[in-house]
Amino acid sequence: MQRSDFGDQFYWGVSTAAYQIEGAHATDGKGSSIWDEFVRKKGKIYQGQHADLSTDYYHRYHQDLLLMKMMHIPNYRFSLSWSRLFPNGTGTVNKKGVDFYNRVIDLCLELGIEPWITCYHWDLPAALQAKGGWTNRSILGWFEDYVSFCIQTFGDRVRHWMILNEPLVFCGAGYFLGLHAPGEKKFNSFLAAAHHATLCQASAARVAKSLNSQLQVGTTFSCAHVEPRTHRSRDREAAVKIDAVLNRLFIEPVLGLGYPVKDLSFLRRMEAYMHAGDEAQMAFEMDFIGIQPYTREIARYDLFTPFLQANIVKATKRQVPLTAMHWEVYPPAIYHLLKKFSNYPNMPPIMVTENGAAFEDVLEDGQVGDKLRRQYLENHIAEVLKAKAEGVNVQGYFVWSFTDNFEWAEGYRPRFGIVHVDFTTQKRTVKQSGQWYASFLQSCR
Ligand code: BGC
Repeated sequence: MQRSDFGDQFYWGVSTAAYQIEGAHATDGKGSSIWDEFVRKKGKIYQGQHADLSTDYYHRYHQDLLLMKMMHIPNYRFSLSWSRLFPNGTGTVNKKGVDFYNRVIDLCLELGIEPWITCYHWDLPAALQAKGGWTNRSILGWFEDYVSFCIQTFGDRVRHWMILNEPLVFCGAGYFLGLHAPGEKKFNSFLAAAHHATLCQASAARVAKSLNSQLQVGTTFSCAHVEPRTHRSRDREAAVKIDAVLNRLFIEPVLGLGYPVKDLSFLRRMEAYMHAGDEAQMAFEMDFIGIQPYTREIARYDLFTPFLQANIVKATKRQVPLTAMHWEVYPPAIYHLLKKFSNYPNMPPIMVTENGAAFEDVLEDGQVGDKLRRQYLENHIAEVLKAKAEGVNVQGYFVWSFTDNFEWAEGYRPRFGIVHVDFTTQKRTVKQSGQWYASFLQSCR
């Protein structure tokens, strides 16, 4: 397999997110975000870790971008920290925050790396959470203002935009399971947050396009390939429900199909948060859709799971190869998901905006021989090619992640980078997987 097998028009890249790498959590006027606050709560993060410093990218982006250039990486997806730009979420702009992203973007362009921006990767300004955050319908206005500022400020140099990163995860883990910021555990909060995120992803994309029709505007979704545990009808029905939660809940409204209420009856309760005309407002013709496949899930019938009567069989109980996140390594998942999403009649081009794996890396004699990650990437990319060869309109692939970083509630333990970070010295070391990706990107084009 060579890069040229994908053609000239394919976007290759790496992905990161502001809170996971930047550090500088209170530097140069940055306001607090829900993650800055959540990491300070007892027992929420592995070993009480936080990302106050993380990879110190705020001060080291220059070095990281040079490394990216040396690795022949042509596209770089990163997110903007809302509270770095607007310390209170709305109102006064933090000029130093704007300067920072201008420096990052300008350096990317100088180095021949195309910047791709995610507007929101989970770090809501704490001041807005104090007003209810995603559960408050006013987020529609706050978010539109924020996104239109970003487009007006950076849209002259950045062509590809993603509105949200994985709404299911920040609404589900943040407002229902309490595992992520802001740590709420209320089903109604989840429903409200989910509906407002659904409206925001469309309305902010609409605003972005109306400000600059030349831009390529998309949004990203988490996803997982779902199979039933057995062929019994109750397991198959369980798989339909789990699939609807993991893969359909947020994308179908954008595609104009509304919420998958038929398969998820609990979504009827969403009506409490819906206003007249919302259904039409949830739809928008995106220029592309980002999908972020990592694994496969096995679903089974379970009488005791409220709302769903369906559950996931943990990968640790299935005797399958695992990553350090305890996710199954199953490369065909990415192929099945590409096929699945491309089956929607009005599906825009697909980008794999994240894919990658955490493994137990060992730094020895200045090297990280992460064979498993190299194989993971190679095998997943081969599955992308297979889908593409069968006619799926997939136009890009971004590795998660460029450097090791702060993996949310899991802290620094799972390392996802193709570049190793020593969090004591901040030394970067390109892993074997990074060397492989670099040579793949350089292979005859
Ligand atoms: C998120 C990243 C995260 C990665 C690995 C995605 O869900 O967008 O922020 O680090 O997966 O868990």
